[in-house]
Amino acid sequence: MTFSTKKVAVVTGGAEGLGAEICRFLARDGADIAVWDRNIGLAQQVAAELRDAGVNAIACEVDISSKAQVDAAAAKVREALGPVAILVNNAGISPEKSFVDITEDEWERVFDINAKGTFLCTQAVIGDMIDAKWGRVINISSSSAQSGAPRMVHYAATKGAVIAYTKALAREVAPMGITVNNIPPSTVYTAGLQSMEERLGSIDEYVKNTIPVQRVGQPADIANAVSFLASEASSYVTGVTLSVNGGRYMQ
Ligand SMILES: NC(=O)c1ccc[n+]([C@@H]2O[C@H](COP(=O)([O-])OP(=O)(O)OC[C@H]3O[C@@H](n4cnc5c(N)ncnc54)[C@H](O)[C@@H]3O)[C@@H](O)[C@H]2O)c1
Repeated sequence: MTFSTKKVAVVTGGAEGLGAEICRFLARDGADIAVWDRNIGLAQQVAAELRDAGVNAIACEVDISSKAQVDAAAAKVREALGPVAILVNNAGISPEKSFVDITEDEWERVFDINAKGTFLCTQAVIGDMIDAKWGRVINISSSSAQSGAPRMVHYAATKGAVIAYTKALAREVAPMGITVNNIPPSTVYTAGLQSMEERLGSIDEYVKNTIPVQRVGQPADIANAVSFLASEASSYVTGVTLSVNGGRYMQ
C-alpha cells in the first residue's frame, strides 16, 4: 500500500518485536517513521536502519505511561517530521502470574502501560488527525482478551480494555475522517515467544493442537495487517478487531 500524500507514522514499542517490523512495513509504504520506545538504544538502531534505506525516521525515548514524556515525544515528532497521521499503539508488557498472587502494584503497572499508555499516546497526536480530517489509529491488543488466558488475568483485562477503547473511539472520531481498529495477535515469534519455547522445550505440540494453519505467527503477519489498516484503502473499516492469529480464535 502506498500513500498519495506524505504521512507521518508513530509506532510505540517500535524498537523490537512486532513494533520494529511494523516500522519497516509502514516505511516501505512511504510513511515517515517515529520510533517510540523506552529502549532508546534499540529504537535508534531501527531508525538508523530506516534512514540507511532512504526513509525519514527518528527515534524518541519515551515511557508511554508518562503523559509528560508522551507529550514531549509528540512535540519532537511534529518539529522533526510534521503532524502525525498514523499511530500504532503497539508498546506493551505481558506479565504472567497466578491470579491469587497478582499485587495491586502489578495490576496498576500493566494497566498504566497497556491501557493508559494507549490513551495518552492517542490523545497526544489525535489533534493532528482532526486538523487534517484524516487519521489512522491501530491498537495492538491480544487474543488473550478474546479467548481468556490463565496466569494473565491482569494482562488480558488491559487488552480487553484496548478492544473496548477501539470501538468507543472509532464511533467518536469516524465523522472526522479518522479510523480506529485493533489487531489481537496470538503466538507471534518475538522475544517473548522465544522465552516460552526455552521454558517448554518445544512449542510444536502447542502449535499442532491450537493453530489451524499449523505455524506460529511472524511479525510480518501482523505488520501486513497494520499496513492495510493504515492505508487509504481501509477508509470504510473502523471499530474492527482484525484477528490475525492463524485461526486460533475465530470470532
Ligand atoms: N508476540 C506475541 O505473540 C503477542 C501476542 C499478543 C499480543 N502481543 C502484543 O503485541 C505488542 C508487541 O509485542 P512484542 O511481542 O513485539 O513485544 P516485545 O516485548 O518484543 O516488544 C515490546 C516493545 O515495547 C516496548 N515497551 C514496553 N513498555 C514500554 C513503555 N512503558 N514505554 C515505551 N515502550 C515500551 C519495549 O521496550 C519493546 O521494545 C504488545 O502490546 C503485546 O502485548 C504480542
